[in-house]
Formats: sequence, C-alpha cells, structure tokens
Amino acid sequence: MAKYKIGWMPGDGIGVDVMDATRTVLDKLGFDAEYIHGDIGWEFWRTEANPLPDRTIAMLKTMDASLFGAITSKPKEEAEAELIPELMGTGKIYRSPIVRLRQEFNLRTNLRPCKAYPGNPLNYRDDLDLVVFRQNTEGLYMGLEYHPLPQDVRNKLIDTHPSQMARLSDIANEDIAISARVFTRKGCREIVQDAFEYAEKFGYKSVTVVEKPNVIRETSGLMVREARKVAKDYPGIELWETNIDAMCMWLVKNPQNYGVLVASNMFGDIVSDLCAQLVGGLGFACSGNIGDEVAVFEPSHGSAPKYVGMNKVNPVAMILSAKMMLDYLGEKDMGERLEKAVADVIAEGKVRTYDMGGTSTTTEMAEAIAARC
Ligand code: NAI
Ligand code: MG
Repeated sequence: MAKYKIGWMPGDGIGVDVMDATRTVLDKLGFDAEYIHGDIGWEFWRTEANPLPDRTIAMLKTMDASLFGAITSKPKEEAEAELIPELMGTGKIYRSPIVRLRQEFNLRTNLRPCKAYPGNPLNYRDDLDLVVFRQNTEGLYMGLEYHPLPQDVRNKLIDTHPSQMARLSDIANEDIAISARVFTRKGCREIVQDAFEYAEKFGYKSVTVVEKPNVIRETSGLMVREARKVAKDYPGIELWETNIDAMCMWLVKNPQNYGVLVASNMFGDIVSDLCAQLVGGLGFACSGNIGDEVAVFEPSHGSAPKYVGMNKVNPVAMILSAKMMLDYLGEKDMGERLEKAVADVIAEGKVRTYDMGGTSTTTEMAEAIAARC
C-alpha cells in the first residue's frame, strides 16, 4: 500500500497541463502515493448542475491531502445557458466550487508563500521571502449582504448608529447596499496562531498583522487584539502591526524587511496578490487551503482559457503548491529537494516558459525540474 492517499483534481483548462507536469516531478522525487481522481469543474456544472459533485466531497474527506489545478467559472446567465437541455430551467444556480470547498471543510487558512528564486527575470528583487496567511472563511467574503436594505435592518441601525444613519436619511432602501464584515474571536485567533506557528517552524523573525484598526475598530480591532495575545506565546518572534494601505506602500518600498504577514479575508486577498507579483506573478503563485482535517493545495491562477491545449503555461505555481503539500505531510526532505530543483532550473535560466520571456513548454519545464530532483 502506498504511504499517502492524495486527492487529484485537475479541473479545467490549464489545470490539466500543470497537474500533469506536477505528476512528472512527484514521480521523479519518489513520492509514495496513491492518487485518487476527483471530478470538479465546468463539465460537471454542465452535465450535473454541480461543479463539485458529492462524490468528490466524500473522496476528499478520506485523503491525506489533495492537489487541485484550476476551474473555469462564468457569470450566472452564461452558466445557465451552458447546462445540458435536461437541466435547463430547473433553477440551478452556479456556485464556485472553490468557495464551496473552503466552506464545506472549513479550510480556514489560506497560505501563500511568495519567495523570489534568483534568476527569475520577473522578480522585483531577489531577496524576498514573504508568506501570507489569509483568513479564508469569514470577513467581507462571507456573503452576508443586503441590497436593497431591509427596513427592519435599517430600523435597527438607526437605533444603534443614529448619527451615521442620519447621513443616509434621504436615501431610499433600494439605493443602499450593505456587505457585513464578520470576524469571530476564534477565527482571528486561529489564523494568527497558524501564522506564528509557521514563523517558528520555518525561522521567520516577524509576523505582521495587516489590518486597519484605527478606522475599522470592531473587526480589525478584534484581530489586532487577538494577535497581541497570541504573540505572548512566541517570545522569539516580533509582532508588527501595519495598516493595509501603508502595507501596500511598504511592500513596494521595502518588501525585503517582511516575513510572515497575517490578515483577514479581503485584506489577505489583496496583499497576497501584491506579494505574488513581487516574485513573478501567477506562474509562480502557489497556495494552500488548510483546515483541521482537509488540506487542498492549488496554484492561485485560473484555467487560462486562451492557453488551453498549447502546453505553454508555467507549471511552477502548481509544482510549488505540491512542495507545500510535502511540507504539510511532514516530508521535509522531499520538499527541500523539490524546492532546490525549482530554484536550480530558474537560476540556470535555460528553460523558461513564455511568461519568463522564454519559449519552453510546460512539459519541458517539468522535465527540467524532475531531472534535478
Ligand atoms: P487566469 O489566472 O486563468 O489567467 C489570467 C492570465 O494569467 C492568463 O491569460 C495568462 O496570461 C496568465 N497566467 C495564468 N496562469 C499562468 C501560468 N501558469 N503560467 C503563465 N501565465 C499564466 O485568470 P482569468 O483569465 O481571469 O480566468 C480564467 C478562468 O479561470 C475564469 O473562468 C475564472 O473564473 C477562472 N479562475 C479560476 C481560479 C481557480 O481555479 N482557483 C482562480 C482565478 C480564475
Ligand atoms: Mg485573489
């Protein structure tokens, strides 16, 4: 029997190319796994009105960890128009399988390492090693929204926030939209704890909490207060507090000064894209969605329809996601060998995909990395 059971979800478009490339590398590393295929993506929306079938959910529960390529998603009307005739007009609504995965398994931590590998022409600087921890299930992305504003909600708000609501007094409910930003103490504490644990395990000297507590007093305030409590348990690691707006500025000015960053859902989303671009962008942006029982590793990019079937995109983001999976499984030595192989290929500069200014194919990149494993 293989040592690990790994959920294997290529999904749509270039998801398939980068997963094939990753398999080449994992096999060469000697990773001892049984791979179990999971259906996910557009085909299953079209034919079953469910892009994340129940059988895939059931499978994921029994895996040690899973890898996921990418999916295609489309706006509501377009999605409905592509359903097979039997399902059309049945009132099915497209829901993103990624968002659903995160909610279904409470994958509360979104982890995005952004490390510069010298030799990558896309690097902003060569000395960057940032890791973003983004709370993945709460905050502004929870979907607690109103438009129009219900009158009973309005009445309650007038009650509790009279002066702010007075400024809206001559605006009709149908002209007001509200999205609630929900933080829980548990959610804040867990994401900050995950960030400190990681900093300790991998030797980072600082954890920066990126919020805006001077303005968003209750939610950002809760995060920062919890961070101060958690920091007391990690005397060797400094807690820095920076506002999201200033952080964007500092990340352009002095990104080399930072290590681990931690933020709520939307701020983490923004800051992780900024960090990813500092080290090469989508072709290099790996990520992990981690809960207590389930972990799914995926590149940050989507299915890139314009490159489907061209064997052209950069598989490094997916391959580094697999490296994160090896770390998660405790396969430290294999993870290091894989990372070194990626770093060597980039440093040598002979094999470069189009985004790095080269003409190498996805397969050539994978084979070059595999050869150094
Ligand atoms: P995308 O990430 O698929 O591609 C945008 C552009 O980034 C591509 O055209 C290409 O120029 C570049 N790119 C992406 N991956 C690359 C790689 N590995 N190597 C080199 N260049 C790469 O985003 P887009 O075009 O906005 O969305 C396409 C589809 O993907 C949509 O249906 C969208 O909903 C979906 N999507 C899925 C995600 C996921 O599966 N997690 C995330 C983002 C988008
Ligand atoms: Mg994003």
